Amino acid sequence: MDQFVGGGTTLIEAKLLNRNIIGIDVNPMALQRCKEKCSFQHNSDSKVYIKSGDARDLNYIPDMSIDFICTHPPYADIIKYSIDIEADISHLNEKDFLLAITQVAKESFRVLKKHKYCAVLMGDIRKKGHVVPLGFQVMQKFQSAGFVLKEIIIKEQHNCKSTATWKSQSQAHNFLLLAHEYLFVFEKDDSMNEIDNPPAMLGRIE
Ligand SMILES: C[S@@+](CC[C@H](N)C(=O)[O-])C[C@H]1O[C@@H](n2cnc3c(N)ncnc32)[C@H](O)[C@@H]1O
Repeated sequence: MDQFVGGGTTLIEAKLLNRNIIGIDVNPMALQRCKEKCSFQHNSDSKVYIKSGDARDLNYIPDMSIDFICTHPPYADIIKYSIDIEADISHLNEKDFLLAITQVAKESFRVLKKHKYCAVLMGDIRKKGHVVPLGFQVMQKFQSAGFVLKEIIIKEQHNCKSTATWKSQSQAHNFLLLAHEYLFVFEKDDSMNEIDNPPAMLGRIE
């Protein structure tokens, strides 16, 4: 499931991997683009469901019915994905965005099967010259919903559409460019909340 499906990258990959997927978005233009992009011929019998909906309320999806979540929410109001769609959380300031994400995390936890994974791509933002650690704030909302953190994968980000603008800004105002995003991989594993990891399981490369 991808409940912020946008341009449909996850739908295409799921189809190529012969997996069933449901992609959800509040923006009809994004959903139309998804339909067009997924209409390619491929030797697979995977089913691609594309649905208009709000990631905060997935009431049409039963509890513990999803095998994997891979999704990419907006980064608060840093890039707006629509002009006037009320349910679009890319219009929310940091505080309200985190409230919305709390609901998204709860719904993700509810619909995911036990011991399965939820991967969320998220980045930090900069406001008035200072870093807002939105990535870790979102991570904490998913942990509070009951998820256990399995991995943090760093995705380097170079040569984006806005890099040139930010580069000149960073030189003028003395700050570093944010050049990475996090892929948080959460597990729905209630038992981990009760176990203290013995040192041999800490998994750090020394
Ligand atoms: C970062 S983009 C996703 C990009 C996607 N990974 C791709 O490959 O194109 C975020 C998406 O979230 C959608 N969105 C915003 N608020 C939403 C909500 N409440 N429920 C579902 N989708 C929402 C936006 O319309 C936008 O398409």
